[in-house]
Amino acid sequence: MEHVNTLEGKIAFITGASRGIGAAVARQLSAAGVSVGLASRSGDDLGLPDAIGVQCNVADAAQVDAAVAATVERFGQLDILVANAGVGAYGPFLEISPEHVDEMIDVNLKGTIYAVRAALPYLLKSAAADVVTLASEAGRRGFPGEAVYCASKFGQVGLTRALDGELRERGVRCTNVCPGGVATDFALDDGRGRNPEVLPGMMTADDVADVVLFVLTRSRNHRILETALRPMSEASWG
Ligand SMILES: NC(=O)c1ccc[n+]([C@@H]2O[C@H](COP(=O)([O-])OP(=O)(O)OC[C@H]3O[C@@H](n4cnc5c(N)ncnc54)[C@H](OP(=O)(O)O)[C@@H]3O)[C@@H](O)[C@H]2O)c1
Repeated sequence: MEHVNTLEGKIAFITGASRGIGAAVARQLSAAGVSVGLASRSGDDLGLPDAIGVQCNVADAAQVDAAVAATVERFGQLDILVANAGVGAYGPFLEISPEHVDEMIDVNLKGTIYAVRAALPYLLKSAAADVVTLASEAGRRGFPGEAVYCASKFGQVGLTRALDGELRERGVRCTNVCPGGVATDFALDDGRGRNPEVLPGMMTADDVADVVLFVLTRSRNHRILETALRPMSEASWG
């Protein structure tokens, strides 16, 4: 299609790229000819060509700086940031442990801030830069049993909207991608509160990656501020 921008030759840094949505985005970007810096605590490179896997806890600003620097050192530049790393713990508000509170704010919110901080100096040198934040439907509405997770996701949405205001005139497009339920490993560990029985009705990680690639391939004369997508098993109001 004429209006669709090619991604061939671009360089992307993706956080939380070892599994789930981040890995699906990494595979689809790689298939589109993008070189990828893949950050996660495990540092998995997914066996992709033109990929560097970097061990990085996004809750630690210095580690994020180093992971972005390693990507730029390997590929020479940065055009795309996908701030995706995230964790969740669900349950009644008073039952969320202080450790899970810290983790959700540190990884989801501060981790996104740190990723933009680290990537932006390079993105500003790109002729066509994008920041895509993997927020959530939980960043657009309040869900019972998800208060702290929602707080972290509303924070990401607010951050990305504000960055759009600051960066549009400098050529950096900023987009919130806000999915409902996606069938991944997310929040399935003991004590994190997601019931695995809900997974079959949910979207796939590739459904979300399709949307990320749609956002990234739009003509440079506009940007998509926010996309919300939900599985057919979820109502739009609940
Ligand atoms: N699944 C859903 O229903 C859903 C819905 C809406 C939005 N989201 C959002 O989408 C994003 C991805 O979720 P997912 O479903 O793909 O989750 P996932 O399958 O659990 O994958 C999470 C990814 O983040 C990485 N990660 C976790 N903590 C990290 C840290 N401290 N530093 C660096 N990397 C870290 C994990 O790798 P390591 O373990 O190797 O570090 C993994 O690659 C999250 O922001 C989530 O909030 C998910």
